[in-house]
Amino acid sequence: MMSTECSLLLATRNQGKRRELETILKGLPCRIVTLEEFPDAPEVVEDRSTFLDNARKKAQTLARHTGLLTLAEDSGLEVDALDGRPGVYSARYARGEGSTDAENIERVLLELQGVPLAKRTARFVCQAVLYESDKEIGQAFGEVCGLISENRRGHEGFGYDPIFYLPEYGKTFGELPASVKNRISHRSGALREIRVILEGRFRR
Ligand code: IMP
Repeated sequence: MMSTECSLLLATRNQGKRRELETILKGLPCRIVTLEEFPDAPEVVEDRSTFLDNARKKAQTLARHTGLLTLAEDSGLEVDALDGRPGVYSARYARGEGSTDAENIERVLLELQGVPLAKRTARFVCQAVLYESDKEIGQAFGEVCGLISENRRGHEGFGYDPIFYLPEYGKTFGELPASVKNRISHRSGALREIRVILEGRFRR
């Protein structure tokens, strides 16, 4: 086993995100550690008004708790016709904590009823932050633009993927294989930059 010096903690309990992060970071010379190895890690309340501040809060809290190099990301969906909602509330849009993906999708579709496809522009955004020894050592942002479809399509991915339509592919993220999503997504955009920072850090 590598030393904790070469371990990277992924600060998320979201299994969908975790799978994507592990795939995108594959091949780095470090052991990827998840919160399952820290059952007593504090639950971080995402109560900040920006993705960056939420990601910072998660990274700092969990780096402090574990003493490990820690990567946190906060991400969500911004819909133009809804003035940017659900935004930082994406995970709990339907009815607060405990909202399911299906309920969140339902609320967005309901709020967009009657809005034509061309006006259903939206983006997924991802803000990633790296923390080590109580210091922020990097941050990166990624986004991907698309349209909110009128119905759910496909079962791949997680969250709002079945209603996030990419005109250039003629498919939603719910219909596209993970290999394509992981190449073009907001998360992969941000994580590509984080990967460069980590590669430099592990070369030292
Ligand atoms: P948080 O970053 O843990 O606050 O949660 C972000 C929420 O945004 C997720 O629970 C999803 O609802 C949504 N989200 C973020 N990234 C994606 C994605 O890649 N696909 C679908 N939904 C996403």
